[in-house]
Amino acid sequence: MLHLKYNHSESKKNSKHSKILVKEEGKEIPKYKIPKDSMPASSAYQIVHDECMLDGNARLNLATFVTTSMEPEAQKLMTETMDKNMIDKSEYSQTAEIEKRCVNIIADLWNSHSDHDSIGCSTVGSSEACMLGGMALKWKWRERENLPTNTARIPNLVLSSGLQVVWEKFCKYWDVEMREVPMEEGNYKLDVDKAIELCDENTIGIVPIMGITYTGQYDDVKLLNDELDKFNKKTGYNIPIHVDAASGGFIAPFVQPDLKWDFRLKWVHSISASGHKYGLVYPGVGWVVWKKEEYLPEDLVFYVDYLGGKMPTMAINFSRPGNQVLAQYYQFLRLGYEGYARVQKHSQDVAMYLSSKISEIEEFKLVTDGSDIPVFCWTLKEKQDNWTLYDLGDRLLMNGWQVPAYAMPQNVTDMVVQRIVVKSEMSFDMADMLLNNILEHLNYLRALTEPTPSTIEAQKPKDANNKIQEERFHH
Ligand SMILES: Cc1ncc(COP(=O)(O)O)c(C=O)c1O
Repeated sequence: MLHLKYNHSESKKNSKHSKILVKEEGKEIPKYKIPKDSMPASSAYQIVHDECMLDGNARLNLATFVTTSMEPEAQKLMTETMDKNMIDKSEYSQTAEIEKRCVNIIADLWNSHSDHDSIGCSTVGSSEACMLGGMALKWKWRERENLPTNTARIPNLVLSSGLQVVWEKFCKYWDVEMREVPMEEGNYKLDVDKAIELCDENTIGIVPIMGITYTGQYDDVKLLNDELDKFNKKTGYNIPIHVDAASGGFIAPFVQPDLKWDFRLKWVHSISASGHKYGLVYPGVGWVVWKKEEYLPEDLVFYVDYLGGKMPTMAINFSRPGNQVLAQYYQFLRLGYEGYARVQKHSQDVAMYLSSKISEIEEFKLVTDGSDIPVFCWTLKEKQDNWTLYDLGDRLLMNGWQVPAYAMPQNVTDMVVQRIVVKSEMSFDMADMLLNNILEHLNYLRALTEPTPSTIEAQKPKDANNKIQEERFHH
C-alpha cells in the first residue's frame, strides 16, 4: 500500500525521476501530477505501452493462478464489449441474461439439481464471491440463533491455516473471529476432527478449500460433510459449509467428476470460484452460488431502480465491467464440457510431468504433485549451506520465469516451498525449457562457496507471527 501513498514532494519535484519525456513533442510532463496540456493519442499510448513492457511476461508467470492467455476471438469480443456495465441490467439486459445462463451452467457443473432452486451471481473475483458467501453465513447464523443485529455474541468461522488472505479480510471486515486449524507437518489439508472441535453455537460455518493456495491440494469436503452431519445432529447447531473452490471449482467437475465436494453434499450450502483462474477468462470475474435460495438471506439483496427497472443486486461493488462475464460464456460455448475437460487434463498432465521430473532432483522433496489442481510444490530435503529456494526463484527470473518460494503457514512456518501453477498455455516443450533452466541454475548454486544473503537470513531466528503475515498469499 505504501507505494500508493500521495507523495506531495514527489509531485512538486523537478528531478528526472519525477518527469516523463514526451519525445515527439520535445517536452517533459510530470509523472505524479496531471499534465497541464493534452497530448496526441499516439504519444499517450506509447508512454503507457512502453511502461507496461517492464511488467513480467504473463506466460512465464508460474506464480499466478489467473488466466494469462485467451484466443483472438475472445479478445475481440472482450474489446467490443468493454463498455458494458454489469450492474446496469436494464440497459445491458442481454448481458444480464448471459450472466444468468452462466450461473445456471456453473450450478449444474457443481451438481445442483432441479429441486434445489439454486441462485448465484458473478463477482469481480473469488474475493468478492467469498465475502458474499461469508456474509450469507453470518446473516443466516443470526437468523438460526434468533439474534438481533447488535448481539453481544461473537460469531466465528472455522478454516484451515492454508486459507487465502481473503478470509482474514472477511473476518476483519465483518467482525468475525477466525478459528484456524493449524497445518501439521506432513498433512497440509484441513484436519476435519480438529475443525469440528473448534465449532460451537457461534460458528457461522466451516470453509474447506478446493485447491489450497499453498499446495494445490483439495480439502476432504466429503469427510467434513459426514462428520459435520453427525455433529449437527448431536448439537442441533446446523452449521453449514461454504466451499472456497477458487481454483478447483473449474477443475474438479471436469477432471475428477466423481469426487463429491459440491452440492451433492448435504451441508454444502454455497460455493465460490474464480472465473479468471481455471474458468479460463482474463481477470476479473468470479462466481458464487447458493444451493437453495433460502441460504441467501433476503436482507443481503438490494433492489435499485435508478438505472431503470427494479433490479435485485447482491454485490459489494456497484459498477464493474460486463465483458468478462461475456467472455466466460464465450469459453463455455467454445469449449463445451469436452473442451474444458481436455484443456484442464492437459494442464494436469504437464503438472504431473514437471513434478515427476522435479522429484528426481536430489536436493528436492515433492510436497504435492499436481494431481488435484495442476499446481504442485516442493521443498528442500535438507537445508543447503550456501543457497535457498528463494535464490533459485531469483535466478529463474533471469530467464523470465516467476516461480515463487515462500514459507508455509502457522505451525509449519519453518518449511519453505517452491510452487508452480500450470496453466493451459504451458506446453510440454515449455516445461522442458523450464526444467533445463532449473538444472542450469542449480549447477550454479551448488558451486557457490559462500552463503547467499537469503541463506544467512534463513539462519536467523524469526518471529513466527511476523513471518506468517509477510508470507500470506495474495494470489
Ligand atoms: C483458495 C483461494 N481463495 C480465494 C482467492 C482469491 O481469489 P481472487 O484473486 O479471484 O479474488 C484465491 C486466490 O488465489 C485462492 O487461491
